[in-house]
Amino acid sequence: MSSPTAPDFTRLPDPGPEVFTAPLRRPSHVGEDWLEPAQRRYTAAEDAVWDALFARQMEVLPGRAATAFLGGLDRLDLGRGGVPDFAALSENLGALTGWSVVAVPMLIPDHVFFWHLANRRFPAGNFIRTRDQFDYIEEPDVFHDVFGHVPLLTDPVYADYMQAYGRAGWKAMRHNRLKALGALYWYTVEFGLMLEQGAIRAYGAGILSGPAEAVFAIEGQSPNRVMLDVERVMRTDYVIDDLQPTYFVIDSFADLYRRTAMRDFDALYAALGPGFTYANTAVLPTDRVLHHGTQEYFLRGGRGSAAAAV
Ligand code: PHE
Ligand code: FE
Repeated sequence: MSSPTAPDFTRLPDPGPEVFTAPLRRPSHVGEDWLEPAQRRYTAAEDAVWDALFARQMEVLPGRAATAFLGGLDRLDLGRGGVPDFAALSENLGALTGWSVVAVPMLIPDHVFFWHLANRRFPAGNFIRTRDQFDYIEEPDVFHDVFGHVPLLTDPVYADYMQAYGRAGWKAMRHNRLKALGALYWYTVEFGLMLEQGAIRAYGAGILSGPAEAVFAIEGQSPNRVMLDVERVMRTDYVIDDLQPTYFVIDSFADLYRRTAMRDFDALYAALGPGFTYANTAVLPTDRVLHHGTQEYFLRGGRGSAAAAV
């Protein structure tokens, strides 16, 4: 099957009537692009929340976060104090890789998100969590989005991967295989691990923006750590409300780019069923396993139980 020509991403393409898009209610002050007219102003208390979260992450990330991530934090000076100004950030980032950071009010529809990525714009939530949401929030806030995602956009190969992912989203929608492509995002962009001179490091934003998961993902005995295989990952279920039972490991961003952006997914989409085949705890005979997890944390009840994240 040959794929239809890629849409023109200069303006928001029409997904077409046969593509299901979640009926999110668009706030009346934003347009079709879902962008805020301007980034919010933050109170001193909100800036202090950023600073406290930043300091807490820096206790656990050295030695656990990917070198490219720590380098990006530094180059963008994200720890200079307070919630970063998106305009200044975009200017720095623009000079490095051509990306910018734009403000959105909340989670935005998939097709709009993909469109921004395809144009090298990273949509970041405008709001910041409160003190009592310190450890866990459902909706990504500015700390997750900017601290977690933006540093790696300074890496040229990763920056290209994210743009290619945005374009890929439009293709997956036409194939009705968004869930599968979503699993790839989940296990790379949000919860990816990578090898650096034989050591495992985290590059996924979901890991890097919270204190517990960085330690759990890298040193925990519970989770599986398996080398990434695109087909396998796209058939694997995932949970969004607890630590991950399985992490997938890449050799490098160049390796990830080669396996995804440089390959045509048409045949893969045609071969995938509409649902997931593998439980997120599974280890398959075909997996290249770095660590076969005990799953102890999950067997003891996971989040909400007294189970330790070990
Ligand atoms: N190249 C892929 C396609 O043909 C998709 C892809 C690109 C997926 C980049 C992830 C990241 O659809
Ligand atoms: Fe995220």
